[in-house]
Amino acid sequence: MQIHTTIASLRAALASAGRVAFAPTMGNLHAGHVSLMQAARIHGDAVVSSIFVNRIQFGPNEDFDRYPRTFQTDCAQLEAAGVDHLFAPDEAELYPQPQSYFVQPAPAHDCILEGATRPGHLVGVATVVTKLFNIVQPQVALFGKKDYQQLMVIRNMVRELNMPIEIIGCETVRATDGLALSSRNGYLSAEQRAAAPRLYATLQGVAEQISTGQRDYPSIEQAAMQQLQTHGWQPDYIAIRRREDLQTPAGQEPLVILAAARLGNTRLIDNLEAL
Ligand code: PAJ
Repeated sequence: MQIHTTIASLRAALASAGRVAFAPTMGNLHAGHVSLMQAARIHGDAVVSSIFVNRIQFGPNEDFDRYPRTFQTDCAQLEAAGVDHLFAPDEAELYPQPQSYFVQPAPAHDCILEGATRPGHLVGVATVVTKLFNIVQPQVALFGKKDYQQLMVIRNMVRELNMPIEIIGCETVRATDGLALSSRNGYLSAEQRAAAPRLYATLQGVAEQISTGQRDYPSIEQAAMQQLQTHGWQPDYIAIRRREDLQTPAGQEPLVILAAARLGNTRLIDNLEAL
């Protein structure tokens, strides 16, 4: 695997690479990230990944400074997963001056769920992903369904801004007890880690109610949030939405149930497709 810290080095290496499949990350890699690299292998002649902890997608009181940085073990995992090129720029390479042009997702996509709880987060994601797309110029890019709203925003961004990139959504990789793998799981104490699978179990409970024909979605959401609260969680939202644009369902569209909740100081997100 070649490691590139500059845009010029990466571009030179990719000039004759053929079909490029790209999976960006913020590092601290786990089996969920590795699954994206394996899917990328199927879709491209050259597999490119990136590691960059993107300051502009973190709020002022979020975990940018303490976000886990594990570059050496990340490299070993990417190498083992068959990644050909890793782009690992420092902040000066990607943001030589403070970013002053931004990619703004549609308000209907930006002001809900993660965007409502984390103002500016999705603008920061859309902006850095656009920069990375312009640097890597992939034919295919892979993102996890774990970050369902992020995937939805990127799909819409690529379509509306005519970026010639096929976006592939990959299934969420989970621990055997159901907890979705996440770099932030490392913040959990042993006791919290043992309690954490309740988030996914709650989503499964909501899916079960929908599958038995219950249609009063606001009541189902409220009850599920209360249940989490009873067990010491502080939920930001549990929301039953249509998959396509994460708006309130109107009829028989395919659904996804999305959740974000804090356990102590750690904020976890998860989701489950239903119907
Ligand atoms: P990061 O959180 O490192 O995630 C990188 C990619 O891995 C994302 O597409 C994410 O959805 C996917 N992923 C994370 N956990 C997963 C799991 N358990 N199963 C499957 N896929 C999983 O998402 C970001 O970084 C950043 O916002 C980024 C897109 C790199 C822009 O900075």
